[in-house]
Amino acid sequence: MIRSVIRGVGAYLPQKIMTNADLAKIVDTSDEWIVERSGIRQRHIAAEGEYTSDLAIAAAKKALAMAGREGTDIDLFVVATSTPDDTFPSTASKVQGAIGKPGAPSFDVQAVCSGFIYGLAVADNFVRAGQSKCAMVIGAEIFSRILDWKDRTTCVLFGDGAGAVVLTAEEGKGDTSDRGILSTHLHSDGRHHDMLYVDGGVSTTQTTGLLRMKGKEVFRHAVVNLADAVREALAANNMTIDDVDWLVPHQANRRILDSTAHKLGLDPAKVVITVDQHANTSAASIPLALNAAVQDGRIKPGQILLLEAMGGGFTWGSALVRM
Ligand code: UT7
Repeated sequence: MIRSVIRGVGAYLPQKIMTNADLAKIVDTSDEWIVERSGIRQRHIAAEGEYTSDLAIAAAKKALAMAGREGTDIDLFVVATSTPDDTFPSTASKVQGAIGKPGAPSFDVQAVCSGFIYGLAVADNFVRAGQSKCAMVIGAEIFSRILDWKDRTTCVLFGDGAGAVVLTAEEGKGDTSDRGILSTHLHSDGRHHDMLYVDGGVSTTQTTGLLRMKGKEVFRHAVVNLADAVREALAANNMTIDDVDWLVPHQANRRILDSTAHKLGLDPAKVVITVDQHANTSAASIPLALNAAVQDGRIKPGQILLLEAMGGGFTWGSALVRM
């Protein structure tokens, strides 16, 4: 059985850091409120003239270096983003044009904060079907450009960044001792599209629009859906929560991460947390967290990782991976 094995991980955060204290100069908020309600201490903000594709390319180069590969080895580029450079062509095509081999396929996936899980699932299916031998999945976002900087209920929660993985097709035995992606599960429920959305678009207002969120409702759905997604992934692999070495969740709110771990009976020390450092970076947050824990040596080859996310749509899902 062919498996998609994660051979490279990389990330990029824009240089400029905006602290909670910096935000308190713009809107009526405080470091204390933001830390207590979300766990966020700072976020990175892209520079003027710096685009989502620039962040994606920087992360991709680091993932390629770790995998010992060149951009020209990549036969599938998937970029998960809700903040593309342009309406079209895709941000993935810009990445492919910059670092890839002419002719290699590229496209964007849009599932907001679940985008990286969706992208990983798509790429994994290409690999397992024999259509890709070396795929790149990137989550890249510049949410700072769709925030209403006058709305304190949303502008304090998001940031910019990118993370990437290189997947290679490798033969496995077909059981959970294999390295690679062991399962992916994707879900959505569009009845809740107005809980977390951008109030503009190509076919509606012909403007980019700004992010709007009913935070409390999103929070409530997130805790339930994420715990269910974890249970679904474990059941599909005949595993229990004790088999998981690391939960690598979408980083939206420290309280969501704590509640999910508590609901699942998971040791909080097994949850990778980076939301304090870069806030909610939507599709970039899982690969950013993955990269942090791989680089500092917490995540080791052979360990079981459970990736999960929930976001606008609503969309949600999981990936169970042996590193
Ligand atoms: O990426 C996936 C999707 N995103 C999420 O998962 C986010 C989900 N939601 C959340 O993380 C939380 O609901 C928030 C962090 C957005 C809000 O936390 P909360 O505990 O639900 O606060 P709240 O919205 O109930 O607001 C409590 C109070 C309100 O004042 P009153 O009405 O009680 O007087 C707000 O006006 O806090 C006020 N408030 C603020 N105060 C200072 C709201 N935002 C701020 C702020 N600074 N930035």
